[in-house]
Amino acid sequence: MSLRDDLELLKTDGVAAFAAAGDAAALEEARIRFLGSNGREKELTKAFGAAASEDKRALGPVLNQVKTALKEAFIAAQDRLASVENDAPIDLTLPGAERRRGSRHPISQVAQEVEEVFSSMGYEIVDGPHVEMDEFNFGRLNIPENHPARDHQDTFWLDNGKLLRTHTSAVQSRVYPQSTPPFRKVVVGKVFRYEAVDATHDNTFTQVEGFVVDEGVNAKHLVGTIRTMLSALLKRDDIEVRLRPSFFPFVEPGFEVDVRLTQADPSSRFSRWVELLGCGMIHPKVLEAGGIDPTRWQGFAFGLGLERLAMIRHGITDIRVMHGADLRSLRQFGA
Ligand code: DAH
Repeated sequence: MSLRDDLELLKTDGVAAFAAAGDAAALEEARIRFLGSNGREKELTKAFGAAASEDKRALGPVLNQVKTALKEAFIAAQDRLASVENDAPIDLTLPGAERRRGSRHPISQVAQEVEEVFSSMGYEIVDGPHVEMDEFNFGRLNIPENHPARDHQDTFWLDNGKLLRTHTSAVQSRVYPQSTPPFRKVVVGKVFRYEAVDATHDNTFTQVEGFVVDEGVNAKHLVGTIRTMLSALLKRDDIEVRLRPSFFPFVEPGFEVDVRLTQADPSSRFSRWVELLGCGMIHPKVLEAGGIDPTRWQGFAFGLGLERLAMIRHGITDIRVMHGADLRSLRQFGA
């Protein structure tokens, strides 16, 4: 057989072998056999090198053509096998990768709604620090040194003489000196009490404090504001509101506001009166301490815990759910 015949045969065999390879292993085996360093192509290339120069001139183009054909057949086989792999059938019955959607904490939801309601009533949203000075938390709010609210039992005192604010009323003390009446402001934030934790008390909770200073402000404005706030936040139309005279050093007169849901299940805590907030007309001494002339300006203020509000809304009966970080509980109230 001549070298020309061998070359033709190599081409036919090689192209056929690559085309017949049914998987990657078979293709690799054929590659070694035809294109490998000891394969048939190398062998014939050597034979070509040893041929007479006249034969070389004639067979050179044939050799090149065989090499190209083998290379192309090999690449075509590779592509064919790769696309077979990609076309592998997909099992549509396999369970997908589960993605959990996060949800906003019930307190964050109410806090945002509070800010929306009050923004719509023209209130400015303000803020203050958690670590507070005695003077702002108590002194300027007309709570003298010997007042029981300063009792160490109620307050987390820090070594540096500061404290964790016990109520958002402290923000009133900070804001008054920087404000020119008339103004309406609201603050939502955490407060802290040295308190035994049970189903209705926590040592950390969230308060809303609103305060309005203007000319001719009276208790009717206060009651109207509270009703507007509660109907927006509780999203129920069976809310009954009751005001009781009460004492807070920073207001005069002061009230406690109770709420009852008239359509609530009779076994529910909220079919009975629940104390929801404190409020009153800002005490003249508090205005004065803040640099505001009480003979010209009056105001009202109110403060309430958001946890209790969120609990009424969702029918939650234990406040510990709120800071318990048990996602199984919290996810139920997600928005
Ligand atoms: N700061 C009071 C508390 O934490 C709540 C409060 C009562 C706020 C009466 C007020 C108010 O602004 O007028 O118990």
